Amino acid sequence: MAKSTVSKMSLSTKEIAELRAKHLLPSTMTYFTDPVNIVKGEMQYVYDDAGKKYLDGFSAVVTISVGHCHPDIVPKIQAQVATLQHMTTLYFHPNIALYAKKMAEAAKNANPALHVSFFTNAGCEANELAAILAKNYTKQMEFVALRHSFHGRTLMAMSLTGQSVWRHSLPYVFGVYHAPAGYCYRCPFAMTYPSCDMACAKEIEGVIKYSSSGKIAGFIAEPIQGFGGVVDPPKEYFKIAYDIVKKYGGVFIADEVQTGFGRTGDKFFGIEHWGVKPDIITMAKGIGNGAPLGGIIATTDIAESMRGKVHFNTYGGNPVSMAAGLGVLEVLEKYNYAHNATVVGKYIKDKLMELMGRHKIIGDVRGKGLMLGFELVKDRKTKEPAAKETLRIMDLAKDRGLLVGKGAMAGNVIRIKPPLCITKDDADFIYKTLDECLSIVEKETK
Ligand SMILES: Cc1ncc(COP(=O)(O)O)c(C=O)c1O
Repeated sequence: MAKSTVSKMSLSTKEIAELRAKHLLPSTMTYFTDPVNIVKGEMQYVYDDAGKKYLDGFSAVVTISVGHCHPDIVPKIQAQVATLQHMTTLYFHPNIALYAKKMAEAAKNANPALHVSFFTNAGCEANELAAILAKNYTKQMEFVALRHSFHGRTLMAMSLTGQSVWRHSLPYVFGVYHAPAGYCYRCPFAMTYPSCDMACAKEIEGVIKYSSSGKIAGFIAEPIQGFGGVVDPPKEYFKIAYDIVKKYGGVFIADEVQTGFGRTGDKFFGIEHWGVKPDIITMAKGIGNGAPLGGIIATTDIAESMRGKVHFNTYGGNPVSMAAGLGVLEVLEKYNYAHNATVVGKYIKDKLMELMGRHKIIGDVRGKGLMLGFELVKDRKTKEPAAKETLRIMDLAKDRGLLVGKGAMAGNVIRIKPPLCITKDDADFIYKTLDECLSIVEKETK
């Protein structure tokens, strides 16, 4: 992509690498063989310290929902920073009240009974709170989550997460059991949809019956799994899951940290595609478009279970994050970005399907709207994950000005989740670049 004029930051990439190595936890990950020093963002594009322009096909890990430094939102944040940064929820401020009202309006289609919010700084805090709410409301303490899921890095969130790569050797929160996700490409029962009769979703009942006390506080799932590798279950999956969860007394929690706010196309929340009514929705990442903002929305009944109890989050709901959140809601409506996600998302998905027809290394293409991905395999029959090749494609794409993400337990899924403002021209660039990178990798591995 073309270069832009970006002033050099005061530290070189080498100096940053040295400081990070010395002063940041060694578990602080980076992408790419040669990490990129990104110093500027403009809607769907970012720039490195040498002025090289990239299309951000991964939205800074699905956080930049409507575009880097969106010109409608930046002035609102700046004005708020210049007026009042923080006082905590112990004091009144209009932003949080307005945002909570707008959230209840936005959540109507997911479930008209969702009225009450609480705001945090991150997704893990939101999921921790959802678990607390579920326990308080049901007076139960066990949970069912899904294999391949990701819910965050605090202790409860890590316990809910269904991937060993995201866990450490810790004393986990007990009473969390993992059921099969709707991952048709790697069906744990070696069955095929639809003749499988949704064995994966039905197994949730088996997990409750055989692993728990027979009563659960809740079930948590991402409508489309993010870090799990864009696992997009069949249309029946969550209805079956919902009925089982209700049968055993649990609340249904939709973790919309990645799928929230239009990313899956037209629907505000991803779960709306499945037509079930979640009791609690958790959210973060894109809802702040780069500002630290997370939260939950719950039914009034569930929220009432917190009456008389203290729950506080020092920076949660601060006026600056709320200004950013209000700005995101405004531009989503003004520019109809959720619909753009449907249109451009379908265009990209069709192109990915076409690439799968020509590149044997692609085993599966998945996702909805602008939450897309494709799985790379060494052999379509054995489905052996092509993890090294995935990294190579990411490097090659980066060199050509396209940033994409990766996911799945084996790290063999390329994730394409650009800001919702991208255009068809950007989609063509993604297609052309990936086509070229796939051809190179296939040649190298012959
Ligand atoms: C689906 C999902 N839930 C929860 C989280 C945790 O969010 P955070 O990193 O903001 O704590 C993430 C991302 O990290 C996520 O992708």
